[in-house]
Amino acid sequence: MNRFADKVALVTGAAGGIGRACAVQLASEGARLCCVDYDAGGLEETMALLDDKDGRMFALTCDVRDEAQVVETIKRCVDHFGGLDVLVNMAGTLRFDMAVDLKLEDWANVLAINLTGTMLMCKHALPHLESSSGSIVNAASTAAHAGIPYGIAYAASKGGVLAMTRSIAMEYAKRGVRANTVSPGHIATGMTDNVTFPEEADIDFLFQRTQSILPPADPKGVASMVALLASEEAFHITGQDVLIDGGTLG
Ligand SMILES: NC(=O)c1ccc[n+]([C@@H]2O[C@H](COP(=O)([O-])OP(=O)(O)OC[C@H]3O[C@@H](n4cnc5c(N)ncnc54)[C@H](O)[C@@H]3O)[C@@H](O)[C@H]2O)c1
Repeated sequence: MNRFADKVALVTGAAGGIGRACAVQLASEGARLCCVDYDAGGLEETMALLDDKDGRMFALTCDVRDEAQVVETIKRCVDHFGGLDVLVNMAGTLRFDMAVDLKLEDWANVLAINLTGTMLMCKHALPHLESSSGSIVNAASTAAHAGIPYGIAYAASKGGVLAMTRSIAMEYAKRGVRANTVSPGHIATGMTDNVTFPEEADIDFLFQRTQSILPPADPKGVASMVALLASEEAFHITGQDVLIDGGTLG
């Protein structure tokens, strides 16, 4: 398939996990690609994986919490490629805290990365996506639908992404831009491998709540759906969320 021939895509969170898998998937289907993350080392590894021989890809370090950096990143991508067709927002963070112990600064940081960062990328990409009749795919989560014990900041941020993306979809439906979310369940990545739990947390209960019925998926299982939603095959789909959870939520 070459669904992204002549298309320009910007992927955040491209230094690892699902964002990296999305970058690889879109590149394999012909996209010209701007890989964005605040982890410069991880971006280098992604670029090495992409093995770009003809200058179709480049990487930009950007902290999505910072509006000036987001503006500059999108400008550099559009200046370089002459436009933007697809925005994939995968940058994100996860932390677990007992609700009564959650520090305000930790709550604010999760919201700043997962929700505000996603909003800033959408806000500044939308004028370019309107010019190209492009599309957005944002990362929500099963936590947005069912909640997750010890993850109140994370669940709140992803619920916000879900509602915000639907609202963008409504506002832009008549202007030619589609916007959808994916809601993965548990996918093994740096995010899930490196997370720590509060001592009082009932980990068995947490795992029970996030257990899939189907065998576990890797990031490629999410990237293939992201690519479908981003592509013109999904021309009549907007404001939707696709659960990719192997049956976790039934
Ligand atoms: N892995 C899962 O089980 C799972 C489940 C549901 C939803 N998600 C969502 O999918 C997305 C990708 O997650 P993942 O599992 O690949 O995680 P990951 O940790 O492997 O990747 C997240 C990437 O975001 C980047 N990032 C974090 N903060 C940033 C910032 N301020 N600016 C720029 N980049 C930043 C990190 O450097 C990292 O490369 C996230 O939004 C996550 O919440 C993941």
